[in-house]
Amino acid sequence: MRKTAIVTGASRGIGRAIALRLAADGFGVVVNYAGNKAKAEEVVNEITSAGGRALAIQADVANPEDVKQLFEKTLKAFGQIDVVVNNAGIMQLSPIAKGDVETFDKVIATNLRGTFMVFSQAAQHVAEGGRIIAFSSSVLARRLPSYGPYIASKAGVEGLVPVLANELRGHKITVNAVAPGPIATPLFFEGKSEELIKQTASITPLERLGEPDDIAGVVSFLAGPDGGWINGQILRPNGGLV
Ligand SMILES: NC(=O)c1ccc[n+]([C@@H]2O[C@H](COP(=O)([O-])OP(=O)(O)OC[C@H]3O[C@@H](n4cnc5c(N)ncnc54)[C@H](OP(=O)(O)O)[C@@H]3O)[C@@H](O)[C@H]2O)c1
Repeated sequence: MRKTAIVTGASRGIGRAIALRLAADGFGVVVNYAGNKAKAEEVVNEITSAGGRALAIQADVANPEDVKQLFEKTLKAFGQIDVVVNNAGIMQLSPIAKGDVETFDKVIATNLRGTFMVFSQAAQHVAEGGRIIAFSSSVLARRLPSYGPYIASKAGVEGLVPVLANELRGHKITVNAVAPGPIATPLFFEGKSEELIKQTASITPLERLGEPDDIAGVVSFLAGPDGGWINGQILRPNGGLV
């Protein structure tokens, strides 16, 4: 049977690059999105016009019923799920002193509760030999002011990864997270001045921002045969950011 991957948040940014890469690797790909149907359909068209298999499915990862349906619809369309990449995420900044619980709850609901729900469905449905991949961020180590809700959400993701890896003992399924450094996507650029973008690009020894394809290559490795002995790990593709 040909293999299938679900990529959440695949309508743009890093998720789009992952969907295209996994399709090129031979996976049938579910291109999940939250609201941007047209962009998700563009990704599907790009895959199918290159001879691949893809389907766009709307689901808000912060909504447990949506996540359940995402997995049900994937199984109905493709018959099996081999790889799940929970890339969907949001970044909203707010200093802790402001006490902005709305922002905190929204970021936690999408990034952490979303990962918990996707992990739960993945644990129930991924086939033996499969791969589950979550998304954290290298910004955790930088302790930047205003990043409290985002860093808290990603720290929670890094906590869930080795626990699920242990819970899946005996199923030959690996669970890992990818924690990128700054990557040139809408999430990174939003609200940043030209100067801050330049400054951020220069802080790694490689002196450039990462590109979505830099991360898609890491996911392809984890999802493919060479990644089979990596389990319970957080990979930090970040150009040497400290
Ligand atoms: N860019 C960076 O510098 C960077 C660095 C470290 C980690 N990351 C992580 O990498 C991942 C991807 O980031 P990105 O930069 O590619 O972001 P992006 O360009 O803003 O794209 C976000 C994607 O997630 C989807 N999404 C947002 N909320 C969702 C929800 N509730 N349910 C389902 N899908 C949802 C969006 O769908 P719609 O288009 O439909 O809204 C979109 O496809 C995130 O987890 C982020 O935290 C990014």
